[in-house]
Amino acid sequence: MLVLIDDARIEEIENLYDKYPYDGVTTNPSILKAAGHSPIEQLKMIRRILPPTSQLHVQVVSDQTDRMIQEAQFLMDHIGENIYIKVPVTEPGLRAIPRLVQQGIKVTATAIYTAMQAFMAAKAGASYAAPYVNRLDNMGADGVRVAKTIHDIFRVQGLKAEVLAASFKNSQQILDLCQHGIGAVTAAPDVLRALTYHDATFMAEENFTNDFYMLVNSVAGTHLHP
Ligand code: E4P
Repeated sequence: MLVLIDDARIEEIENLYDKYPYDGVTTNPSILKAAGHSPIEQLKMIRRILPPTSQLHVQVVSDQTDRMIQEAQFLMDHIGENIYIKVPVTEPGLRAIPRLVQQGIKVTATAIYTAMQAFMAAKAGASYAAPYVNRLDNMGADGVRVAKTIHDIFRVQGLKAEVLAASFKNSQQILDLCQHGIGAVTAAPDVLRALTYHDATFMAEENFTNDFYMLVNSVAGTHLHP
């Protein structure tokens, strides 16, 4: 399962990549707004700091098919390599997907709230479908279940598309999807940090280190400390 960072702030991305080799970055207009810089410059900067093998997902903002395609071409020409164009699964978006794919542009269908939206986007040629897990939970639906259903539909229908599950509030949602074989997840930095942090691990390491120094000091008569 690929694990991507759902954030556009350079410091956060660098900080996370410093600790772990993530698989890329996803953005949307709201995430770019939070970063607070010129969107295109920010996206170029993100692309520059990412390893070439890392994906960068960038969303179009137009609500008309032709303009979505123009935007996507502009982004492909200006940002760099390994770009996925995020297209909301509106009617104009679904019309844009096969035209983008014909031009060799990789598409992530986004703003997905139902399994059939994902199925139609995958049939249209999208590489990824991004269901919004936590937003679905907040609507009284079961976001994890929707994401799993989409994954199962893709496999049983022989579609090449993968789920790129998005919008998470906690690591349990990600664990459930990991266990189910989901292709990729993207989450905010705090959720990603919670995937690995555990107080007990921290305390175990501290105890081992203290024991080691107590042993060395008692054998050598020193007063060394970590
Ligand atoms: C990803 O495609 C979405 O833009 C994003 O993950 C939504 O997350 P949120 O519900 O936390 O805003």
